Amino acid sequence: MQRLYRKRIVLGVGGGIAAYKSAELVRRLRDHGAEVRVVMTQGGREFITPLTLQALSGHPVHLDLLDPAAEAAMGHIELARWADLVLIAPATADLMARLAQGVANDLLTTVVLATNAPVALAPAMNQAMWADPATQANREQLLSRGIRLFGPGSGSQACGDIGMGRMLEAEELARAAADCFETGMLTGKHLLITAGPTQENIDPVRYITNHSSGKMGFALAEAAAEAGARVTLVTGPVFLPTPDRVQRIDVVSARDMLAACEAAMPCDILIAAAAVADYRPEVVAPHKLKKDPSTGDGLLLQMVRNPDILATLAGRTDRPFCVGFAAETENLLEYAARKLRDKNLDLIVANDVANPSIGFNSEDNAVSVIDRQQHETRFGQASKGHIARALVAFIAERYKES
Ligand code: PMT
Repeated sequence: MQRLYRKRIVLGVGGGIAAYKSAELVRRLRDHGAEVRVVMTQGGREFITPLTLQALSGHPVHLDLLDPAAEAAMGHIELARWADLVLIAPATADLMARLAQGVANDLLTTVVLATNAPVALAPAMNQAMWADPATQANREQLLSRGIRLFGPGSGSQACGDIGMGRMLEAEELARAAADCFETGMLTGKHLLITAGPTQENIDPVRYITNHSSGKMGFALAEAAAEAGARVTLVTGPVFLPTPDRVQRIDVVSARDMLAACEAAMPCDILIAAAAVADYRPEVVAPHKLKKDPSTGDGLLLQMVRNPDILATLAGRTDRPFCVGFAAETENLLEYAARKLRDKNLDLIVANDVANPSIGFNSEDNAVSVIDRQQHETRFGQASKGHIARALVAFIAERYKES
């Protein structure tokens, strides 16, 4: 959910049993790249401790309007200005009533009055309280002022009743929060992404390939689609599901990959994460090669250079913004910078593949991006999904400046 990347969310936690779900909500929001600051009501503190939410959000929880120490660190007006979204989950019947009346008698209600950011409530209460005309009138009043309501859902409730009033689950709330930020940073752009290895046939049963799993390229495709881009993913043979809203083209060899990329042009941004074979056997034997006693124990394969897909596309007159990857086992930054120059790229992502916990077929990665001015930006070890979201945001910014 790229739309939450770097978004600042003030999460208000009211006093309801559903407050236990707020802990999971903090995690989900942060997993999607959002920064979260928690404000708790007095009631919220009865259901879940501030310490839990402090540990999960990575920041002290804001509790009191009249706390000089907290106000000195980040006052309520500053907090209200800081927010890109104020999300209150759970929003109790009492909180809804106070907000509908414009009451500002604690920190959370004060922040809501003081903020210019969108405000969203995730109601959570007993079904009879939700159905009560007073709550419904408050709901109408809040909606008429542009306050959004996420849910509630229907089902069995903590009190034993069944009906409307359940707070939505954390992931549903995170998605609804993402929907508040409609425009993806790459909306309207076409991204062409290469992924995975290539296979170069020796004969009908043997080929030359490498250890690329495609995970990095697929994560980039997913992150780019989430950022609103139209994504064409040209991939060598891998065992991965196609990310949502991504057009996938499967290829085998480097020459197939070049042809598929050329057919997918024009694009605005090219990200070449594929590990393309630099060489292929000059001749592909039409039948399975047999052991030949005349050559003793050896077999000599004559290899020829494959076309360079990235350099070819970077040399076109309709050249896109070009981002390469450099997989190196030594002299990482020096070799990556050389590839940036030689292939005429805008950015290169230097990937240390000597370290087995990052790079080929690992769950994590850690990379440095080098630009044409030799400036290096480091992305520390994290899951490939996380690195992909950070890279897509970085690339989108640099593309806009170009
Ligand atoms: O797939 P994973 O298991 O998740 O692993 C990710 C990865 C390590 C494969 C990926 O992060 C990575 O580093 N990809 C580039 C690997 C590579 O082949 O690097 P290179 O230094 O050989 O090539 C430099 C650049 O030129 C790359 O962008 C490559 O896609 C491109 N290239 C290379 C040769 C060629 N004939 N055509 C190309 O387009």
